[in-house]
Amino acid sequence: MKEKYILSLDQGTTTSRAILFDHSGTALYQENRAFAQHYPEPGWVEHDPLEIWSTQLEVTREVITKTGIDTAEIAAIGITNQRETTVVWERSTGKPIANAIVWQCRRTAGICDQLKNKGLEAMVREKTGLLIDAYFSGTKIAWILEHVPGARAKADAGELLFGTIDSWLIWNLTDGRVHVTDYSNAARTMLFNIHTLKWDDDLLAELSIPISMLPDVRPSSEVYGTTTLLGGEIPIGASAGDQQAALFGQCCFQEGMVKNTYGTGCFLLMNTGERPVSSEHGLLTTIAWGLHGRVEYALEGSIFIAGAVVQWLRDELGLIQSASESEAVAKTVENTNGVYVVPAFTGLGTPYWDSYARGTIVGLTRGSNRAHIVRAALEAIAYQTKDVVASMEHDAGIKLAELRVDGGAVMNDFLMQFQADILGRKVVRPQIKETTALGAAYLAGLAVGFYENVDEIKRSWKGDQTFTRVMSEEASQSIYQGWKKAVGTTKGWALD
Ligand code: G3P
Repeated sequence: MKEKYILSLDQGTTTSRAILFDHSGTALYQENRAFAQHYPEPGWVEHDPLEIWSTQLEVTREVITKTGIDTAEIAAIGITNQRETTVVWERSTGKPIANAIVWQCRRTAGICDQLKNKGLEAMVREKTGLLIDAYFSGTKIAWILEHVPGARAKADAGELLFGTIDSWLIWNLTDGRVHVTDYSNAARTMLFNIHTLKWDDDLLAELSIPISMLPDVRPSSEVYGTTTLLGGEIPIGASAGDQQAALFGQCCFQEGMVKNTYGTGCFLLMNTGERPVSSEHGLLTTIAWGLHGRVEYALEGSIFIAGAVVQWLRDELGLIQSASESEAVAKTVENTNGVYVVPAFTGLGTPYWDSYARGTIVGLTRGSNRAHIVRAALEAIAYQTKDVVASMEHDAGIKLAELRVDGGAVMNDFLMQFQADILGRKVVRPQIKETTALGAAYLAGLAVGFYENVDEIKRSWKGDQTFTRVMSEEASQSIYQGWKKAVGTTKGWALD
């Protein structure tokens, strides 16, 4: 039977998704399942790894049963995932020893302070391309080993395994036979030397993490093993962190090309080719992917809360019934009437890097209403992106010509227009918006010869709509200054 499809598993922060793509990159069918978010303490975020696995397996099986395809028609599975989120499980039973500590979780800010006080920032940046921050997996593993009863002894005896979500899914898909991750995910652990492409002994020693826990690190496009849990035997041909996968799905294959993904958070990545570029303005140097024997790098700006602020308006404040309603509500007012929402719910990433910042609403008056707050929350997504673009332009020494965008929130025309207004750059929305899952599909397809090379893939990218600035530059500068002032009020809020 001829292989016609690639099946992408996109395990995100709030949903597990499976999407079936054909050779042209068209998403034929998809299933999504939300899973529980746990907030045991302020600033902490956890997921149940077993629920991640069960929801992911369910949606994957449903795609196959509901489309009625034969598994023999699937050329490969590609995996893409929320990055940094940390799972530790028992090698012999496959049981997680604790909930997964999610990338947004701030519980290890204190461990990070200790590392900074020891003067390790330069060393961490030099080896890993990252800043010392609770965002990354390393301190999360250290926390689990220190706080879960019995974990330290088991880890020292070689009985525990660590994985980011890709690793956890591949291990389960292969029934515990394969414990791997790829370069793009390893680069987010703060334990991986992005130049030598090896786990770093010094960093492991600093955090007392035994190397026996860590997965093998492999290219992003390679057959790691096969799964038999879906019917026939299907090769697993790719693993890539979701933001790097989106960069690939947006066909940003050349140096200097940039995309911004508006998901739970917002992540802006610039391809820097085979050159790791270090930042002076709070950007991260990260691995984009390992492909065809080469490793390519990216500069990244990470915004922790983007689409999640819309969820918060809906689920916690009850100001809207659905995410899509935010657009209509925002448009009922001309502006926010001086209101700013700073969604620093889990601290701030690029360029502020403040684990202790917390969210705020400022500028409230008697005339402030629901629509002003909803609009201000959407505008905050665009302001944060502007902060990151400014850092990137400084670091790269170039002015962006355009910003390719993707992710759920790009369907919000109000947000896209405001983004173009505040940036003063063209904002380009592609025809295929599922770029994260698509990137994983392309990488998996390349691993099994479903695609010959990236040139073949590049031809499939097509723009859909371009947004350009309509607001005057003066007005845009003026409201952006208000944003900077609002952000300033959140600094260090959670510090004693
Ligand atoms: O680094 C965190 C990022 O990978 C999360 O992505 O799509 O769940 O917002 P997303």
